[in-house]
Amino acid sequence: MRFLRFLLPTSCAAAALTAALRADRADAAPVHTAATAGMAPTPPMGWNSWNKFGCQISEQLIREEADAMVASGMQAAGYRYLNIDDCWEAPQRDGNGNLTTDSTRFPSGMKALADYVHSKGLKIGIYSSAGTGTCQGRPASLDHEVADARTFAAWGIDYLKYDNCNNQKRPALARYRAMGDALAATGRPIVFSLCEWGSNRPWTWGRSVGGNLWRTTGDISDSWASMVRILDQQEGLEAYSGPNAWNDPDMLEVGNGKMRYDEYVAHFSLWALLNAPLIAGNDLRTMSDSTKAILENPEVIAVDQDWGGKQGYKIHDDGDLEVWMKPMHSGDRAVVLLNRGETTSPVTTSLKALGLSGGRHSARNLWTHTDETVTDSVSATLAPHTVAMLLVRR
Ligand code: GLA
Repeated sequence: MRFLRFLLPTSCAAAALTAALRADRADAAPVHTAATAGMAPTPPMGWNSWNKFGCQISEQLIREEADAMVASGMQAAGYRYLNIDDCWEAPQRDGNGNLTTDSTRFPSGMKALADYVHSKGLKIGIYSSAGTGTCQGRPASLDHEVADARTFAAWGIDYLKYDNCNNQKRPALARYRAMGDALAATGRPIVFSLCEWGSNRPWTWGRSVGGNLWRTTGDISDSWASMVRILDQQEGLEAYSGPNAWNDPDMLEVGNGKMRYDEYVAHFSLWALLNAPLIAGNDLRTMSDSTKAILENPEVIAVDQDWGGKQGYKIHDDGDLEVWMKPMHSGDRAVVLLNRGETTSPVTTSLKALGLSGGRHSARNLWTHTDETVTDSVSATLAPHTVAMLLVRR
């Protein structure tokens, strides 16, 4: 643009400048920005059907999970979105080309279910794919974005998880932008969750298509190996996350039964440190008190929901022993000391490495809920596959 100014007479240059600015703006700030800005000022919290139930879902199940979200204390702890994943769709679109709900599993239809969820003070999420079919082979939204977004809005949907299966190898950015624009055009605020698996670095363009969160990896499973594999893939992504636009290392497996209690504590601590969306993936109707104590730990949730300018990141790596740190907006530091190995070991970091002055600082242990004083360094002796999580005061 500066270049144009030198070449053209002033009035002409001004017109060219205005046009160029308009074009820039259209690119950098598409129509949906206003609609999606403010949609997820903190990482979304909720529940999703996939990790526990896969395709075994029904309106009865979703109603019971909504009831349990309230009765279990999850709603009071901050969980808001009740998200239905794949397999809610009828096998075919209706005669008008619209998506419809599987009438065997959801006989009352999606609008009635959304009304029920809303009556509990909760919000409802749904799922589709930026492809010709979902990952389970149901109809999906590629080239039907406008109609499907209107359908979701008419049902009262508040959150869309948008997958990547059957994408016909068409460019990701355009596929996701089409749905971002279509959601914005409905005028209904709908959180837009990109489930693109990190294939095309969605952290670099997710925001520009109206995304409020984007998956950074393939699917999590209920194992320590899967959880730490995903953790490793978060390194270096901290620059891309922030209010209304979060890196999503996938939904939680806490309480699904294949990891030990301490391993789930580690999973939840690390996800909170990463400002990850906290989307529970267990059966809320039957969760144990120990699962509740993890998912509803207010001090760990507070770390997740705090924006101190950067999501947490790794500051020390000694093979199996790692230290992760997140600045809190107050200047305090949230710290996770992690032993991912097979032998009990001490894990230590200096206050200087946390960006704090040396000397005495008070620290809060976010799992034992006790205060202690630390001097110059923070350390813990950790059993295999465990963490200590501390909030070190500035
Ligand atoms: C993909 C997604 C999962 C889940 C399934 C549903 O694998 O990454 O999170 O939504 O599809 O089919």
